[in-house]
Amino acid sequence: MAASRVLCLLALTLSLFAVIYTVSGHNITQILSESPEYSSFNSYLSQTKLNDEINSRTTITILVLNNDVMSSLAGKHPLSVVKTALSLLVLLDYYDPLKLHKISQGTTLPTTLYQTTGRAAGNLGFVNVTDLKGGKVGFGSAAPGSKLGANYTKSVKQIPYNISVLEINAPIIAPGILTAPAPSNNMTELLEKAGCKIFASMLLSSGVVKTYESTVEKGLTVFAPSDEGFKAESAPDLTKLTQAEVVSLLEYHALAEYKPKGSLKINKNVISTLATNGAGKYDLTTSTSGDEVILHTGVGPSRVADTVVDETPLVVFKVDKVLLPIELFGKSPSPAPEPVSTPTPTPSAKSLSPTPTKSPSPRKEPSPVAASPPAPPVDEPSEEAPSDSPTSSENIRAKNAAFHVNTHAYFTAMVTLAATSLFL
Ligand SMILES: *[C@@H]1O[C@H](CO)[C@@H](O)[C@H](O)[C@H]1NC(C)=O
Ligand SMILES: *[C@@H]1O[C@H](CO)[C@@H](O)[C@H](O)[C@H]1NC(C)=O
Ligand SMILES: *[C@@H]1O[C@H](CO)[C@@H](O)[C@H](O)[C@H]1NC(C)=O
Ligand SMILES: *[C@@H]1O[C@H](CO)[C@@H](O)[C@H](O)[C@H]1NC(C)=O
Ligand SMILES: *[C@@H]1O[C@H](CO)[C@@H](O)[C@H](O)[C@H]1NC(C)=O
Repeated sequence: MAASRVLCLLALTLSLFAVIYTVSGHNITQILSESPEYSSFNSYLSQTKLNDEINSRTTITILVLNNDVMSSLAGKHPLSVVKTALSLLVLLDYYDPLKLHKISQGTTLPTTLYQTTGRAAGNLGFVNVTDLKGGKVGFGSAAPGSKLGANYTKSVKQIPYNISVLEINAPIIAPGILTAPAPSNNMTELLEKAGCKIFASMLLSSGVVKTYESTVEKGLTVFAPSDEGFKAESAPDLTKLTQAEVVSLLEYHALAEYKPKGSLKINKNVISTLATNGAGKYDLTTSTSGDEVILHTGVGPSRVADTVVDETPLVVFKVDKVLLPIELFGKSPSPAPEPVSTPTPTPSAKSLSPTPTKSPSPRKEPSPVAASPPAPPVDEPSEEAPSDSPTSSENIRAKNAAFHVNTHAYFTAMVTLAATSLFL
């Protein structure tokens, strides 16, 4: 009894944290809609979904460009490049005009949203802000040898100390971002490189890859289970599915819209998938835990482990587990314990700690904090065990399951080893 009370309290505390994390109270689209000279900038924030990312954060500064400057940037480049350029204009710190003119030592290198993508090598994800005296403040890429190619022009809006909007007179261009080679648009190739070979081959053999390809132009989000996810203890026995069910399962792993991580983080709605064929069918919900996003199918949770590619209007995520729709797996969820209204074994406080759910994978490294200065590109998928917020009974059941599965940790480690050796 006492243990379950502790559990409830913990769940409550964690869900409160989740609320604080996601509710910032500001709406950048709303703020900029008051100034028509930034309508183009505002529209690009919405198209690239950077607005969701901005709204999910506090202590943030947006460097806006007026319509003329924006059109000279956007006119020449694809949306994916525009997104990168705009993410360099979002500083993960609060700078109002006063602070801007009081920079200690006259120069500083704030982190930008671009740094959090894991694609910014070296200093590319940082911006150089320098007090030029005479009231001027210059902005440029922090990459060595870059010029201060933009100047502060005026303040647009401040909500201290949550969000500040300042106008600058030119984009900040980090070396190479305008000429970045377009990523492969070959879905199979992308997935194979990311360690999702089983998923890729199923998409090909079922023909569902064509459905994905026909959707991508208008926006596509893919949740690709890792090969480890297919081999996991909790993975479904796919040989028991009919061909039509395999198609539904694969369609369940994609959305007909562009929903990058920031959008998943602030999502509060039920999400339809490509398999959705009626209200409440084949849908998903999301929750967050710190910076992590967890997908919930109603059968079990799966963590969004890595962003394979985020090139508006396509985003491909790697997920830890195969997503099990209730429509196919709700009746006999082979992995998780049978649904029970009162959990039989009172979960001990210990089963809540992340430690028992971790497999002793030999390749596991603490994933680098993307926002810290010389962070290496986060190419290597983190193999952390899910750390979902235990707000639903589904999660608690999953935690228990994970705890029991731990007896097979040795097996998991061997599978991981085998999988790793494939790439060496
Ligand atoms: C700033 O953000 C916090 C949440 O982090 C919110 O509670 C507060 O109301 C916001 N302040 C303003 C002035 O909007
Ligand atoms: C933000 O403001 C825009 C424009 O006023 C509105 O359409 C949108 O729904 C708002 N977003 C949120 C999350 O409230
Ligand atoms: C920022 O750029 C200026 C001008 O190029 C340079 O003098 C300064 O050292 C840079 N600041 C930092 C912190 O690197
Ligand atoms: C920024 O201001 C400096 C100092 O006045 C000036 O030399 C430079 O040309 C300006 N740069 C831009 C892009 O306006
Ligand atoms: C996509 O990549 C796969 C694997 O590299 C290759 O077999 C296939 O031919 C490619 N498809 C296209 C259309 O280029």
